[in-house]
Amino acid sequence: MNSNNLPIGIFDSGIGGLTVLKEIINRLPSERTIYLGDTARVPYGSRSPETVTRYSFENSRFLFSRGIKLLVIACNTASSVSLERVRRSVSVPVIGVIQPGARAAAAATRNKKVGVIGTDATVRTNAYSSAIRSIDSSIEVFSLACPLFVPLVEEGWTEGAVAELTAETYLRDIRREGIDTLVLGCTHYPLLKGVLSKIMGPGVRLIDSAIETAATIRAALEEQSLLRDVQGDGTGESNREFYVTDSPEKFIDVGERFLGSSISFIKKIELESEV
Ligand code: DGL
Repeated sequence: MNSNNLPIGIFDSGIGGLTVLKEIINRLPSERTIYLGDTARVPYGSRSPETVTRYSFENSRFLFSRGIKLLVIACNTASSVSLERVRRSVSVPVIGVIQPGARAAAAATRNKKVGVIGTDATVRTNAYSSAIRSIDSSIEVFSLACPLFVPLVEEGWTEGAVAELTAETYLRDIRREGIDTLVLGCTHYPLLKGVLSKIMGPGVRLIDSAIETAATIRAALEEQSLLRDVQGDGTGESNREFYVTDSPEKFIDVGERFLGSSISFIKKIELESEV
């Protein structure tokens, strides 16, 4: 098959990467996509870099076995700890979520004070902070892990008193730093945008890595002449395949709300372990 017509492969630790898929669909509606949510092993954010790297290789290997033209590591944690190693091991372009988010934050800040929120693992690697400061070393970066946001979102509790109180408690200190830009450095956090902007106030710009990443994917496909070549009805749900490593029911239930469209082709799979 002409590689232009191959799908884009996307993986995440679970449901959160659907925020990235949604933006890919918005910008590239004709592209075919294969999404893998490693729902049996979520969360990645509390695991060691070695474990997350092993999972990333297993996820990538599965997507390659389906035939893809570009790989997206939609998970911030996996992008932070394993992007370079995965990139070195494959022959297709690999795009993560850190660089696009960092570029957007560096461009957005006026007072050069940027906050980054993410999982424990993402914050520990300093991946966002290094990426932002390598663009502009005068920017001060304040990073904060907000691990409870992931289970809240997985549960579908993206608004209401529990979400607000959790956000208020986490963000109190970072708000005091006077940041004007906040990077949502985790796949799940765009789903809490309403709550986060309420807590941070109108003076703080929220950077959604998912939107920035989709723009980067489009640019990479254009640059490498890999855009899908479709005539007629190339769009629609038949272009989207979903795979999960645990039972699909909850993924469908919460996922359809995130995605704003139905998830019709979905299959539970067993990933082959590396050893
Ligand atoms: N996908 C992860 C991330 O973006 C969040 C969920 C997890 O901890 O696995 O960092």
